[in-house]
Amino acid sequence: MKVLIIFTLLLFVSCDRNTAANKESSIALGKTTFANNCAICHGDKAQSTVDDWRKPLPNGSYPAPPLDGTAHTWHHSPKSLLGTINNGGAEFKGWMPAFKDKLSDDEKQALIDYIYDLWPKEIKKQYDKRFK
Ligand code: HEC
Repeated sequence: MKVLIIFTLLLFVSCDRNTAANKESSIALGKTTFANNCAICHGDKAQSTVDDWRKPLPNGSYPAPPLDGTAHTWHHSPKSLLGTINNGGAEFKGWMPAFKDKLSDDEKQALIDYIYDLWPKEIKKQYDKRFK
């Protein structure tokens, strides 16, 4: 019996480690995918490239907002974030390009994991409560 309990515990611990390791590698993939595809508009740390992302650009369109928890990215469910990555800004009459056919499913999920990882603890907590 004891052996069984120990075995079950070990199994739990190793599963947990696996999940954590998978998350880590997904975040790492998200970081490079972000640097290669998104940073040019959203900033290298997703902090935006302008001081005030609410102010329209000279051409009348809005700049790419920060995704790091300081704007409202964390108000959107993972599904809606995936929708924006796939379809770009078309649904809000924006100009973000669509990445539907440019990135793999793993890369898109990795981007969502990476963006989530940038948020402050308190925001992650609220997000988890609402969406996870
Ligand atoms: C050519 C510039 C550009 C690129 C490249 C770009 N974006 Fe955007 N993104 C924008 C703009 C501008 C918006 C605001 C909506 C609009 O105008 O389309 C936006 C909005 C978003 C939003 C919604 C944010 C919110 O708070 O509601 C997410 C999420 C997002 N982008 C993620 C990404 C990711 C991930 C990538 C890389 C795969 C990326 N973007 C690449 C310009 C860009």
